[in-house]
This record gives sequence, C-alpha cells and structure tokens, in this order.
Amino acid sequence: MDFEELSEILTKNGQNQLAAHLATLDQEMSAKLAVQLRSIDFTRLSKLIDAHVLNPSDADVPEMISPAPYFPLKPLDSGQESLYQDAERRGRELLDAGEVCALTVAGGQGSRLGFDGPKGTYPVTPLKKKTLFQYFAESIARAAEKFGSPIPWYIMTSEVNDADTRSFFERNAFFGLNSEDVFFFTQGTMPAIGMDGKLLLSARGSLALAPDGHGGTLLALRKSGALDDMRRRGIEHISYFQVDNPLVSVVNTLFIGLHALENSEMSSRALIKAGPNEKLGNFCLIDGRLSIIEYSDMPAELAEKRDPDGRLTFRAGSPAIHILSRSFVERLTEDGDLRLPWHRAEKKVPYVTPSGEKIVPVEPNAVKLETFIFDAIPKADRTMVLEAERGKEFAPVKNKSGVDSAESCGRMLVERDAEMLESVGAVVPRAENGSVDCIVELSPRTFFDSEDVETYFLKNGRAPNVRPKEECYYE
Ligand code: UTP
Repeated sequence: MDFEELSEILTKNGQNQLAAHLATLDQEMSAKLAVQLRSIDFTRLSKLIDAHVLNPSDADVPEMISPAPYFPLKPLDSGQESLYQDAERRGRELLDAGEVCALTVAGGQGSRLGFDGPKGTYPVTPLKKKTLFQYFAESIARAAEKFGSPIPWYIMTSEVNDADTRSFFERNAFFGLNSEDVFFFTQGTMPAIGMDGKLLLSARGSLALAPDGHGGTLLALRKSGALDDMRRRGIEHISYFQVDNPLVSVVNTLFIGLHALENSEMSSRALIKAGPNEKLGNFCLIDGRLSIIEYSDMPAELAEKRDPDGRLTFRAGSPAIHILSRSFVERLTEDGDLRLPWHRAEKKVPYVTPSGEKIVPVEPNAVKLETFIFDAIPKADRTMVLEAERGKEFAPVKNKSGVDSAESCGRMLVERDAEMLESVGAVVPRAENGSVDCIVELSPRTFFDSEDVETYFLKNGRAPNVRPKEECYYE
C-alpha cells in the first residue's frame, strides 16, 4: 500500500488529520508512522470508534440472568467429599505428569499503582521485599520440585514492558528457574482514541498505543508460538493468574483436578462477594451459559438481590483466576481471528500535537478499548467454578494506598503466613482485634503449601513461638 492509498483509507475512515500529518513529516518519520498505520484494519476500527467512542451506549444486559452454580470451598456431602479427594489426587497426578503450566498476564500498564516499571518488578513481601515476579518464580520452583516435573511458566508482556521484563529476569538469573522453562510473549496493541474519535500520537512519528486487554492473551498465545511450545511439552492445562495477586496458588491441585474431572474447558475460582457493590465481576448464567458480568454493568436490583437466607443471590465474584485447557485455546484461535467483545475505558493518555507539543491531560481525554479473558468463558462447552478462600487466594496490588494496595496486600501475606504457622502449632502474637502483632514471612521457595510447613517444622523440631513485634523470616 503506497502513501496515496494509505491517505485515502485514513480520510475515508475519519482520520483525515493523520493523512494531513503524514504529509508534513520527513521521510524517515513518515515511513515509521506509515508502518504502524498499515498494520491497522481501519474499516474495522472505524466501526469500533463509532460504537464505543462517538456513540457509546450502555452495555446490553440480557434479561434472563440467573446466578451461576459453583463448587463450595468445603464439600457439602459425602459425595462431594469423595469427588474433592479424587480431584486432589488427579491434580497431583497431572502435575507429576508435567501436563500443567503457569500463565501470568503481565502486560497491563499498572496506571493506578503509578510505579515506574513492569508491575511484576514491584516489591511486595513485608520483610525481604521480594518482587511479584520473584514470589511467583519461587512458588513455581517449589511446586515443580514437589510434584517432580517442570512447570513451564508463560509470561505475557506488552510492547511497553517486554524488554524491561526480560532484562529483569536475566539480571536475577531467572530466580533459580531454568530459563528454558520461562517463555515470554507479547500481546497486541490498540490505538488510543481521543474523545472526538481521532487517533492520538505519542510522538510526531508514532501513534499512542495501549495493550489490548487480557483478552489479548488468547491470540497472543497462538501468534507467539506459545501454544505450539505447550503442545510440544505435553501441556494440557494452563493455570492462569494476574501478575498483581501474589496470594494466588500458582498451581492449585484441587482446582486443576476438578477442572480435569469435570472435563471443563475453562474453569474459574470464585470469591463470595463482601457486599453488593464489591468491584468483582459477577458469575451468572445467561441462556444457560456461564458468563461474567462486570460489576459496572450489573443492574443494581440484581446486585443487591438476596436469597431467603440473607446471602446475596449473585454472590460469586471473580478474582480472575482460571484454568484453560490448551485444546480450548487452540480451538478458539484456530482461524487467527478471535472476536471477543470490546470494553471501553476512559483514561488520561499523554499525547503530542502534530507540531510536537507534549500534552499531559489532567482529565480523561481518550478511550482505550480492551478485550477481557473472561469473555471466553461462554464460548467453552464445559465450565466449572470453584469457590476460593479470600485470605488464601486473593490480595491484589492495584492502588498506591488504601483498598487493594501494596499495604493491604502485605498485611494479607502476613496474615496468611501466620495462619499457616498457627496450623502447625506455632504461637503467633495477635492484638486485641485479632490482627497479627508481628511480621512473619514464609519463603515460597520452601513453603508451597501447608503440607510443606508441616514437614519443615516436624523436621526442624518445634513450631516457633513468635514474640510481639518480632520479625521472622523462614526459608
Ligand atoms: P488491570 O485491569 O488491573 O490493569 O489488569 P493494569 O493495567 O494492571 O492496571 P491499571 O488498570 O492500569 O491500574 C489485571 C491484570 O491483567 C493484566 C495486568 O498486567 C494484570 O495482571 N493485563 C491487563 C494484561 O496483561 N494486559 C492488558 O492489556 C491489561
């Protein structure tokens, strides 16, 4: 496509300002910008701009929504008890057979945290200040050692943080993991769109681009060759989690086993929502298919609805922890053109004017379009949801302070580790309100689960007696 054709396409699709801008650039810069522009399907993009930027409407909420069934944390009867035992066993077998990998989505921009660098390089643990990536790496290393087979780790980055992420791992010798078992892949991007429907520039010769959402994982897995790599290694199940949740069990034996026994294609953990307005997606059945409705799209009367026993009717919320079968991802992406719905978010996107003046907006000035991984759930023929215990699985680091911050996450890590110690008879000081009155940190390289804690203290004599305010690190 030559410049003339490109200009024509831009003009036809409402981006005449870009055609005019291209004509003012020197050869090198215009060639660079043209490469970006040629990679965009403008016919498709202008439809999206029309639907999500110029004429946005509220999300369509289907009429027939019912709460989704889920497996409870603890089995309810003897039938379920034996199913959970079988699942636990099956999960261990699959790990032992090397059929499970870990997948971390780490391509986001982490704008709320306001940290300069990939979010995975953010220090989270209370004493050793281990980063998110180190924490997961150590846990994966211990799980692989425990179950006796490598657990390949696929890490999704985006153009903005790929180089920094890779060099972080290299500088840290992959935290002891075999570098061949760590596979980085980069997700796709979408242009940031001004409120007037015009694409923004990040520099005179470059569009402002943003990662295309965690839904981009699926196509990126195929395009990067990660799916082929998984097939070669005999991986059947993908344990998916977000980079900002260090509490997650990177591979959970019960969850993996139930996923397999239920022949599920995409499985999810669920948290019981703390209240009707908690910002978690809602597990629902729509036309009989499991789906997640974002909290912002959930009609208030449904969010607040209660069962006769007083519990929220729609109480299963999503902490974004899933297992996907590799074959499911292969099927979804086989024609290379998976179409998940787009979601709009209004954001503050710094940009330059055509003359090169830098503008840092104080109010949202642009729409970013993203797809979400959970929109793949209704495409699965079989699904499964398993309740998760909040304090054991979910402590996201989203904000600088307050709710879901590094501080709240640090407290939850201490609380979880204190409970693990108490479960083997340790004495952990607690304040009057029940909160832990010391700082304990267990290394995930040694302690993958409570079984490891038990074995360690059996071997090393008595469980500890921690004094108030004491700082204790165990490895
Ligand atoms: P969030 O929705 O919290 O977005 O991502 P974020 O970019 O990390 O943070 P904010 O909203 O800008 O503050 C949840 C998870 O999905 C990943 C993130 O890295 C995080 O693990 N993600 C998000 C991607 O991998 N790619 C994306 O395009 C978006």
